[in-house]
Amino acid sequence: MASINRHMSGFLSVIFLLVTFSLAESRLYEDFKTFEQHVYDKKTRCEIHKLDKVSWSESGEKGYAMNCSDLRLNNTPKSYPPLNKTRPHLSPPLRLLNLSHNTFKTIKNNSFVNVRNMNSSDVMWLYLNFCNISFIDSNAFVNLSSLINLNLTGNNLVNLNSFGPGVFKPLISLGNINFYGNNFTTFEGLGTELKFLKNLSGLFIDLCENCTFGEGFETLTNLKNLSLSSFTDNSCNSPFIYNDTFENVSMIERLNVGNCNVRKIEPGAFSPLKNLMHLDISYNEDLEFDGMNTALFGLQYSTTLKILNVKRIHSLYGLGVMLTKDNMENLKTLLVLEELYMDMNKIEIFQESVLYPENTFPKSLSFFALSGNRLSISNYTLRLKNVTSVKILDISRQHLDYDPFLFEHVGHRNALPAVHDSHNLDQTFHCNCSAIGVICLPNNITSIKWRKSFLWLEIEKMHNNLPFMLICGATSLVQLDLSFNLITRWNGHILGLDNLNDLDLSENLCGEADPDFFKSFPKLRILNISGNSLGNAFTEQKASLLFQNLSKLNVLDMSCNKLKVVPDKMFEDISNITHLYVSGNLLTQWNSSLEKHRCLQMLDLADNKISRLEKETLTYLDSLTNESCYTNITVNLTNNPLDCACPNLYLLKWIRKSNIFVRVNSDCSINAQKYAIRNRTELDAIIDLLENDVCKVIDKPWITWMTSVVSVVCTGIITISACFLVHKHRWKLRYLYYSRHRRHVVEGYDRIFQYDAFVSYAQVRSGFLKRVVVPMLEETHGLVTWVYDKNSLPGISTAENITHAINNSKKCVLLVNREFLADSWCEYETNMALVESIIARRDMIIVVMMEPIPMLELPNYLQRLLLSVRSLEYPEHGQDENTFWMNLADEINT
Ligand SMILES: *[C@@H]1O[C@H](CO)[C@@H](O)[C@H](O)[C@H]1NC(C)=O
Ligand SMILES: *[C@@H]1O[C@H](CO)[C@@H](O)[C@H](O)[C@H]1NC(C)=O
Ligand SMILES: *[C@@H]1O[C@H](CO)[C@@H](O)[C@H](O)[C@H]1NC(C)=O
Ligand SMILES: *[C@@H]1O[C@H](CO)[C@@H](O)[C@H](O)[C@H]1NC(C)=O
Ligand SMILES: *[C@@H]1O[C@H](CO)[C@@H](O)[C@H](O)[C@H]1NC(C)=O
Ligand SMILES: *[C@@H]1O[C@H](CO)[C@@H](O)[C@H](O)[C@H]1NC(C)=O
Ligand SMILES: *[C@@H]1O[C@H](CO)[C@@H](O)[C@H](O)[C@H]1NC(C)=O
Ligand SMILES: *[C@@H]1O[C@H](CO)[C@@H](O)[C@H](O)[C@H]1NC(C)=O
Ligand SMILES: *[C@@H]1O[C@H](CO)[C@@H](O)[C@H](O)[C@H]1NC(C)=O
Repeated sequence: MASINRHMSGFLSVIFLLVTFSLAESRLYEDFKTFEQHVYDKKTRCEIHKLDKVSWSESGEKGYAMNCSDLRLNNTPKSYPPLNKTRPHLSPPLRLLNLSHNTFKTIKNNSFVNVRNMNSSDVMWLYLNFCNISFIDSNAFVNLSSLINLNLTGNNLVNLNSFGPGVFKPLISLGNINFYGNNFTTFEGLGTELKFLKNLSGLFIDLCENCTFGEGFETLTNLKNLSLSSFTDNSCNSPFIYNDTFENVSMIERLNVGNCNVRKIEPGAFSPLKNLMHLDISYNEDLEFDGMNTALFGLQYSTTLKILNVKRIHSLYGLGVMLTKDNMENLKTLLVLEELYMDMNKIEIFQESVLYPENTFPKSLSFFALSGNRLSISNYTLRLKNVTSVKILDISRQHLDYDPFLFEHVGHRNALPAVHDSHNLDQTFHCNCSAIGVICLPNNITSIKWRKSFLWLEIEKMHNNLPFMLICGATSLVQLDLSFNLITRWNGHILGLDNLNDLDLSENLCGEADPDFFKSFPKLRILNISGNSLGNAFTEQKASLLFQNLSKLNVLDMSCNKLKVVPDKMFEDISNITHLYVSGNLLTQWNSSLEKHRCLQMLDLADNKISRLEKETLTYLDSLTNESCYTNITVNLTNNPLDCACPNLYLLKWIRKSNIFVRVNSDCSINAQKYAIRNRTELDAIIDLLENDVCKVIDKPWITWMTSVVSVVCTGIITISACFLVHKHRWKLRYLYYSRHRRHVVEGYDRIFQYDAFVSYAQVRSGFLKRVVVPMLEETHGLVTWVYDKNSLPGISTAENITHAINNSKKCVLLVNREFLADSWCEYETNMALVESIIARRDMIIVVMMEPIPMLELPNYLQRLLLSVRSLEYPEHGQDENTFWMNLADEINT
């Protein structure tokens, strides 16, 4: 015992010594820092830059920028580096001075007077953001007579006392002043200071609680843009907006009070704003549609308001929302409203009367965004039809994205009316047509975005040549975006889209396509069918008919479709094509005949397995340069295993000499050695090597090659057949093996689990798990999780640990990211969970997509899984994270 104690104390003293050393070292470091500071103060390390594009054009295409940010300066520099003669492209005057992220605390008098190497009256942009400034002296800005932008974001300015009197007088040209992220507690008197800024057109300042724009502001006659919230931080906080808040700023044209925690806007608050053209009250989640209506009271019959943004003015929690007639009382009176953003408000339905002719949306409305709501198809398509003026409609992400609907069970997808409902539909839609499914659109609509809505539809071929669906009122529709849905079969005919120009059906997991379907769009110019699985759909006979009615097509994107071959006659009828994208497929050769296609500009074959282009193809491409429609032609061969064997030398030489721009960025091997072809020089070197060396030597006899290939193939086949049976049932076998003694026999709802959730994640992300996931689920939401690093028992194999844990967990949460896909244990866990959910009939898998990964990049087992289980998406925006964790905890608990 004693000896242990002695060891212990020895050990402790070593630690003590170490600590002392490190303390000493850190003191040394402090000294070093003050030394450094000194050097900085004497000779600032400011850097000279080009102006950015906007500033460049605004300052008459001359001048340069000085960047002194983040140099720990305590005072504004009295001397700046001279313009370096070795950089002739920079010319005076100095226009932009960036002094941000320093520690000035106060801006003293004459800070910009008598400064070496800078003419203060030239400076147009001055950045003083995040400089700890709490006071600006009266004469601080003397000489800055050309300044148009002053950025004071993120300082400690709190009220009138933060400024010396008359501080803004010298800034006679100032157009924009930015006070975001300060801590103003009142605007009292601010107007009397700012009133000297006769040219001020933009004021950026967080709206503080109970603050009003008082006297002095009325003299700012040029003020057009009043922006009271920056969206990037949450520093704007103003639960109430009163009748007198904007009394003195009646001249403004643009008002932003988004993301300000606004709960109530008094009915008269906006009435002084007779010139208002653009109003943003989005992201005030307690405002709701009722509050919106009250707020708009002051703008009734406005003849100026053109843009209204009321995105996400409902909280994320709670029930779906019905947009009622009463909500629309004031909105409908707006006489010139053109754009309305109502996204992410959980709207489930419109009250029927909302769209009665007498209370409908303003007649001038042409852009209507409703994305991220919960609209379900039958009811809103019907009602929207009466908003006749709408030209562009965005109804993407219904039930989706970074709002709660995102977290909905995938199984509750919107389904278009099924075929056998045809009778019903005729009644519901008051439509006198005999098609199978009918959808009526507003008459003047030109563009619809309906992406990412899990729209689930199989377009089938009907007997009697009936169209599968009839879209009425779509005569003006030219653009339709249905990407990222689940429209998995394109077989039937659709009537009513005759004028469609641009159709996007990418990422729909479609595996079937019939010529009948494409007949529906005779005027199509742009067709995007990338990211589907059409590899097997393009059979030889079908393919040649597929595009026969699309003679006007200019752009065709079939990339990422698992195409192994492109049938020869596929493009015969679309000879007007200019851009053809076939990248990301499995093509081993390209010999589709494109003879008649005289205006081709882009042939994208990147990311295939093409080793060579035939001589005919090259001749064809060369011949295009004589056409009248010839403009630069690009052929993209990036990431193809180009063959550098002697028979292919002609291709390499052609690439070098042709007028066609060929992008090559790949490796090719010569005598088992890899050579990169990325640029002209490398290409030259390879051609040289082939011409002068390799191709002069006679090739090895082919028999040697053949025998070795044959023997490898035979061994392979035997092994594969032997493994096949075991492989096919591998998951079940492993499951049965590892779970042999472990399973509880209790089934059904009463089963009590040891853990709430088994969390599967890529090993490389275990830091995130430890830091975020486990604390969130365990501490914040009181769940018990099983995590490999934390819970695995020693002495048992990983496989057994996992199987046991899955058996004893209520839910299995898969945190899917790209690393997850690459981690073989993750695949193991997923499959074990699948087997468990099937064998024990438990609905236990929850998939969390940690990053957006296109469906096609997911392995098959995950694609299938995603179609049948709960899935959530990890939010892109930090502010939605809490909601996400709450939803995940809910999912685990249900
Ligand atoms: C001018 O700039 C070059 C490189 O940017 C630098 O090496 C040189 O020291 C500078 N000369 C002066 C006088 O600052
Ligand atoms: C002010 O600075 C902030 C932070 O660097 C920046 O985000 C903002 O765009 C600037 N505003 C203006 C008007 O220059
Ligand atoms: C802003 O002021 C309030 C009260 O006046 C204070 O509680 C808060 O810490 C201040 N915020 C900052 C960033 O200084
Ligand atoms: C703002 O006004 C409301 C009601 O008049 C009052 O309850 C609240 O305390 C005030 N807030 C501040 C910071 O003065
Ligand atoms: C605000 O203005 C509205 C409409 O002019 C009026 O009905 C209301 O009484 C006013 N509120 C207050 C507190 O004065
Ligand atoms: C739509 O408008 C038409 C014609 O103005 C009208 O007859 C019909 O009742 C309206 N439908 C709805 C649901 O309000
Ligand atoms: C949709 O409309 C039909 C008929 O107008 C109505 O019976 C049904 O309740 C509506 N659905 C929802 C979810 O409101
Ligand atoms: C919409 O189309 C109708 C004809 O269907 C036309 O009378 C009306 O003027 C159009 N409205 C707008 C705003 O273009
Ligand atoms: C082909 O395209 C050109 C220009 O884009 C156009 O003038 C011509 O009419 C088109 N031909 C057909 C058959 O659509």
